[in-house]
Amino acid sequence: MSRDVALSGTLVLLGAGKMGGAMLQGWLDRGVPPGRVVVLDPSPPGDIARTIARHGIRHNPALDGLERVEVLVLAIKPQNFDEVLPGLAALVSHRPLVVSIAAGRTIAGIERHFGEQPAVIRAMPNVPAAIGRGITAVVANANVTAEQLALAQGLLEAVGEVVTVDDEDLMDAITAVSGSGPAYVFHLAECLADAGVAAGLPEELATRLARATVSGAGELMRSSGRPAADLREMVTSPKGTTYEALAVLMAEDGLKPLLTKAVAAAARRSRELAR
Ligand SMILES: NC(=O)c1ccc[n+]([C@@H]2O[C@H](COP(=O)([O-])OP(=O)(O)OC[C@H]3O[C@@H](n4cnc5c(N)ncnc54)[C@H](OP(=O)(O)O)[C@@H]3O)[C@@H](O)[C@H]2O)c1
Repeated sequence: MSRDVALSGTLVLLGAGKMGGAMLQGWLDRGVPPGRVVVLDPSPPGDIARTIARHGIRHNPALDGLERVEVLVLAIKPQNFDEVLPGLAALVSHRPLVVSIAAGRTIAGIERHFGEQPAVIRAMPNVPAAIGRGITAVVANANVTAEQLALAQGLLEAVGEVVTVDDEDLMDAITAVSGSGPAYVFHLAECLADAGVAAGLPEELATRLARATVSGAGELMRSSGRPAADLREMVTSPKGTTYEALAVLMAEDGLKPLLTKAVAAAARRSRELAR
């Protein structure tokens, strides 16, 4: 069950690219009044620029004239933080809740830019947010009130599910599982198509079968709410074709150790990039 977005001040979105744009659309769809939103982005992509214009959303206004800034969402690339955040100094006195979705930017690294004891939430969304079907993990610092956390959860639920964790150290593993995870699934579809070609199918047919299979299986898992293992058992008859394939995939040197290695590599890289 998703929360309402109970906004009483101004919501500033810094960076209206793929992720920021998806959130903006989600907020508007959920009835956030466009008059409460300010977008800061020198050149948002065309579709998002049109959304901003159509709703009369304030775009790149002077920061010192803004009425109470309640939330500031940081959705620029992590590598732009050090160059861009000092330019937001005019917002510090509003003591906004700062919500960052930037990969690898730690709470301590964000706090430095926002004065005394700022309320900071670090969030890790993933790319299905673009269709409102992402999952975002959030961790808050000690200055975030229960109301602020609920507000951030409501804002992030506009693009999918939200889970809250208490330990920021988990963010590296979360990044490795759900942040990077959609790419693993896309690669699974590629491998399944290639395997189909190796088994004698024309490439176009194999690609179509693999794509529909991966997306259909994902949709079934979501809509049924059943554990993945139950669904797997449901389609595996003893000694049948699926059984034979799973004997390969579930062998000691099968998919699990490979994925464990891949997730560990991503988590390690996330730790290296963190600042
Ligand atoms: N996409 C994902 O799957 C994903 C997943 C998890 C987390 N994230 C995080 O989400 C954040 C945004 O990623 P994204 O994929 O949405 O990137 P993006 O599409 O490049 O969006 C970033 C936006 O910020 C704009 N920008 C650049 N400099 C700016 C400035 N000085 N002031 C205001 N806006 C500025 C960019 O404009 P230009 O294009 O003109 O530079 C662009 O429109 C990143 O920190 C990333 O780590 C993304």
